[in-house]
Amino acid sequence: MVAKWTPEGWRGRPAQQQPDYPDKAALIAAEAKLARFPPLVFAGEARRLRQQLGQVAAGKAFLLQGGDCAESFAEFTADNIRDTFRVLLQMAVVLTFAAACPVVKVGRMAGQFAKPRSAPDEVQNGVALPSYRGDIVNGMEFDAAARIPDPQRMIEAYSQSTATLNLLRAFAQGGYADLHQVHRWNLRFVDRSPQSERWQEMVERISEALDFMEACGLTPDQTAELRQTDFYTSHEALLLGYEQALTRVDSTSGDWIDTSAHMLWIGDRTRQPDGAHVEFLRGVLNPLGMKCGPGLEADGLLRLIDILNPQNVPGRLTLICRMGADRVEEKLPALIRAVQREGRSIVWSCDPMHGNTLTSTTGYKTRPFDRIQTELRRFFAVHQAEGSHAGGVHLEMTGQDVTECLGGAQAIDESSLADRYHTHCDPRLNASQSLELAFLAALMLKKERLHARAQIAAAS
Ligand code: PEP
Ligand code: CO
Repeated sequence: MVAKWTPEGWRGRPAQQQPDYPDKAALIAAEAKLARFPPLVFAGEARRLRQQLGQVAAGKAFLLQGGDCAESFAEFTADNIRDTFRVLLQMAVVLTFAAACPVVKVGRMAGQFAKPRSAPDEVQNGVALPSYRGDIVNGMEFDAAARIPDPQRMIEAYSQSTATLNLLRAFAQGGYADLHQVHRWNLRFVDRSPQSERWQEMVERISEALDFMEACGLTPDQTAELRQTDFYTSHEALLLGYEQALTRVDSTSGDWIDTSAHMLWIGDRTRQPDGAHVEFLRGVLNPLGMKCGPGLEADGLLRLIDILNPQNVPGRLTLICRMGADRVEEKLPALIRAVQREGRSIVWSCDPMHGNTLTSTTGYKTRPFDRIQTELRRFFAVHQAEGSHAGGVHLEMTGQDVTECLGGAQAIDESSLADRYHTHCDPRLNASQSLELAFLAALMLKKERLHARAQIAAAS
C-alpha cells in the first residue's frame, strides 16, 4: 500500500541539505507569501514536456538540458539570459540538423538557485562559517552575516525566476528563435573561435534548406515550428519549503503540480528512498530527473523507479548519469540492464560534468574538457552496446566567454583559469566549449541512428 501523498508530507521524513533558518517566524511568513503568488508554469506545459520526453524514451528524440550551475542575483541581466538561451538554441540546431533528430530543450534556468554542499561549514584561515548554499539561501561572500540563511531570499529568487521565464518565453515564441534568424545567433567571441567555421558552414546549409522549403511553399507563417520553439525550465528541487509553497492543484485534473519549473530533478546527495526529497517529488505531476552517481546500484535504482514512476509513464523519469569518465563503463551497464529487464520506460541522459571535477594546481575547481568528452563518448558507447538509446545531455554551461573548464579548442590552460572565472559554484563550459560538445554529441547521435537503421534493414 502506498501512503497517501500531501504537499507537506515530506516534513515527516529526514531532509538532507536544508538550511537552518534562525528566524522561524520569518521563514513561515515567506513561505506563506510564496504560497499566494501566481504559478510560474502550468500543468498543460508540464504534460507537453512529459509527452515530448516520452518520445526521447522511445528513442525518437534527444534531450538537451543545460544552464548555470547556480543562477545568481548579482549576474541577473537580460544579456546573460539571452546569451545562454542563444547557445542552447545553437546547440539544439547542431543536434537537430547533424543528427536529423528532434531536440527537447530544457534550461537549467529561471529557478536554479539552491546548491547541495559536501560540507555544512566552510573553513578559511582557521575561521568556520556555514557553507554557501546558493543565492536563494545565503550570500556567497565569506562573511558571517552574509552566510546566515535568510528566507527573504526565496522571494527574490521567485521574482528573478518570473522575470527570467518571461524573457525566455518571449525569446522562444516571439520571433528570436525563428530558424530564419539562425545566422544572427552568433556570439561575438565565438566568431573568432575554431567552432565558428563549422557553425557558419552549417548555417549556410540550413539557409539553403529553408530557401528550398520556401520555394516549395512551406513558409514560416504556415509552419509554426520554423518560427518558434518550445523551451522549458528546470532546476534541482532542493529547497523543499520553497517547492512546497509553489505546489498547487491543477484544477482540470485534480493532480498536484510544482509550478516553480516544468521539470525538477533530485540531486545525487538527496535521493534516499525514505528521504524527504523523494517523498515530495513522487507526488507532483512534473517530469522528474534523478541524478545517478557511481554509488547507485541496480536494485537501489529499481526501488527508486518504483516510487517515482510506479505507473511506468514514458517521459516521467529521466536518469541523469554522472559517473565520471573513469567509472561510466563500469557502472552504467548494470543500471541499463536492470531497467531493460524490468521493462521500465526511462530517458537516459548524460551529465559529463559532475563526475569530472578536480582542483587545478592553481587552486581552481575545474573540469578538463577532454574528460567531459570522454564520459560523453563512453556513455554513447555503453548505450550502443546495450541496445539502448543515449537520450540526452545535461550540462553546466553559459553563453559567456568564461575560463572555468580546462581545454577545448580554445586550449584553456591552468594559468588562464584566473582570467574569467566567474561561477558561483561549479565550473561551466563557455559558449565555444558548449558548441564543441554539441558537435561531438551530434556525431555520436548520428552514428546511433545509422546503426539502428542498419539493424532494422538487416532484420527485414
Ligand atoms: C548539480 O547538478 O549542480 C549537482 C549538484 O549535481 P549532483 O547532484 O549530480 O552532484
Ligand atoms: Co553543479
